[in-house]
Amino acid sequence: MEPTRPLTNTIDTMLLEERRYEPDPEFARQANAQPDIYERDWEEFWETEGRERVTWFEPFAKLYEWEPPYAKWYLGGKLNVCFNCVDRHVEAGNGDKVAYYWEGEPEDERRTITFADLQRDVVRFANALKGLGVKKGTAVGIYMSMVPELPVAMLACARLGAPHTVVFGGFSAEALSDRLNDMECELLITQDEGWRAGKKVPLKRNADVAVAQSPTVRKVVVHRRTGGEVAFDEARDAWWDALTKGKSDDPASAPCEPMDAEDLLYLLYTSGTTAKPKGIVHTTAGYLVGVATTHNYIFDVKPDSVYWCAADVGWVTGHSYIVYGPLANATTGVIFEGVPNYPNAERWWEIIERYKIDILYTAPTAIRSHMKWGPEHAARHDLSSLRLLGSVGEPINPEAWIWYREHIGGNRTPVVDTWWQTETGMIMITPLPGVTTTKPGSATKPFPGVAAAVFSESGEQVAPGGGGYLVLDRPWPAMLRGIYKDDKRFRDTYWSKYEDVYFAGDGARIDEDGDYWLLGRVDDVMNISGHRISTIEVESALVDHQKVAEAAVCGRADERTGQAIVAYVTLKGDEEGSIEMLEELRDHVAKKIGPIAKPANIVFTPELPKTRSGKIMRRLLRDVAENRALGDTTTLADPTVVEEIKERATADASED
Ligand code: WTA
Repeated sequence: MEPTRPLTNTIDTMLLEERRYEPDPEFARQANAQPDIYERDWEEFWETEGRERVTWFEPFAKLYEWEPPYAKWYLGGKLNVCFNCVDRHVEAGNGDKVAYYWEGEPEDERRTITFADLQRDVVRFANALKGLGVKKGTAVGIYMSMVPELPVAMLACARLGAPHTVVFGGFSAEALSDRLNDMECELLITQDEGWRAGKKVPLKRNADVAVAQSPTVRKVVVHRRTGGEVAFDEARDAWWDALTKGKSDDPASAPCEPMDAEDLLYLLYTSGTTAKPKGIVHTTAGYLVGVATTHNYIFDVKPDSVYWCAADVGWVTGHSYIVYGPLANATTGVIFEGVPNYPNAERWWEIIERYKIDILYTAPTAIRSHMKWGPEHAARHDLSSLRLLGSVGEPINPEAWIWYREHIGGNRTPVVDTWWQTETGMIMITPLPGVTTTKPGSATKPFPGVAAAVFSESGEQVAPGGGGYLVLDRPWPAMLRGIYKDDKRFRDTYWSKYEDVYFAGDGARIDEDGDYWLLGRVDDVMNISGHRISTIEVESALVDHQKVAEAAVCGRADERTGQAIVAYVTLKGDEEGSIEMLEELRDHVAKKIGPIAKPANIVFTPELPKTRSGKIMRRLLRDVAENRALGDTTTLADPTVVEEIKERATADASED
């Protein structure tokens, strides 16, 4: 293993944070979570939540089974996720309740979708999918922007028992194709184009390039969003509207498939320490119970709440807390198609004012952007409907936490900093509003029914006051059931550092009160605006360019995006580094992975610093990238290389 990043710097600054926020007594009285929730026996907790929060076609017989590293939950139970998210609410008389307010990027485009509307849309589309041969077990890829048809597509798949993989609309054709191939998708659901900051994103064009390299895909369903011209293969492609036209919207015409508790619900691909993304496996019952339970207690959702998770459905946050968790709880949600600063920096605050949103869940990178644009944009709007603020995706620095609470929450709302991962499926470490005394920058305590610890390198539990690696030492309902088709990688990545204990790959410190302070990744995974990207993926994309001989990539601290990507590139033969070359390489990475993976800096260097055994010294590159004093360079094959890199880093740095 590469040496892990020293955690001491972060720990020092964290120690200085001593502000405390006690729960407001009025909030505490009405909160969904009461203090005794922490006293509940963890098995009783998940047993009760499992029985009460979910509607079963057949009840489960056994709570869980744990054969490390594989767990099963709610064994013997039969249920359907779409039934739980849609049909049962209509049957209970909540058909007129709003499921989603959809706000398009063009300012005059809005839709209000009730649970009854959602059911009709889902049933019609499920019938269309059935017509294309989709049935239980058919793998479906989804590549869309933030349109209501995206959750409709996911729910229709869940209804039929067809597992989906949603690929973020900002990913490139190649990234899409890799995922379609790994899951062996038979169908791809996409759209003509998406809106992003006034520009059109060519989703169908990317999909065409991807499908040309994905032989298992036999049909492509295309939702018309912008109405822009797109290529259309009559034999393979079908328009969403043509397919659903005249299809029955009677729920009985496309019944909810009774699924086993452990049937596959979806795969979501995430970055690891090799170039190949991992297909994280999530199954049916445990996942649904986990996301619905956490959503209820952590966001203190009420029947009349208007809840907005401003993430993209293409990431796990959107899966768990825009689609499955909130819908299972019959919550009214908001889906926003656009970006926070288009047409201007007031857009978000207009949305909160318009829908009287009471719960906002977003990422530190977005909060820091708003800080940069200034508090005056929010100040022009009535945000008094807000009762609760949430944060996810990366460590939130205390300044951003305080700004969020003061300028957005009117110094009144609790802030919940929620730690979790694609792999955990649900929030794992978090305050409970009304119960927990919060500290800016701390995710505080494991959720009830969840066990976590901080371990030293050698596997000893670290006592309060100490730092080390975050682990989860007990199975939980929404946990990943493996990496798709790769048992070895599953064991190696999460279960080999400590025996039968889940290794999260994050550093953490635990304070005297037992509160957790997350310190960022300790492996070669960067966190850019809350999105995980592995160094090796970007390196592979760079080396794929014909003029590149070698590349090393690392993250450096960035005020707004948390981390930014720095690449060190050695060109082939007598190629010279230039601004043009730099742009060409950035575009190449965007093409291979997606614009989010574009390096912010590229440093051209005749050689990369290596150990005697030929390993690239990433730790050193990180030091250079962050302008820190250089670490120990004596293991370098050629110590002068570092000095040279340092000089060039200052000379060539190019900002986005
Ligand atoms: C980081 C996103 C600190 C962490 C839900 C984790 C956080 C990775 C927090 C997972 C938080 C997420 N505080 N760090 N509140 N939330 N992270 O899979 O490094 O996209 O391992 O899931 O994001 O990213 P993923």
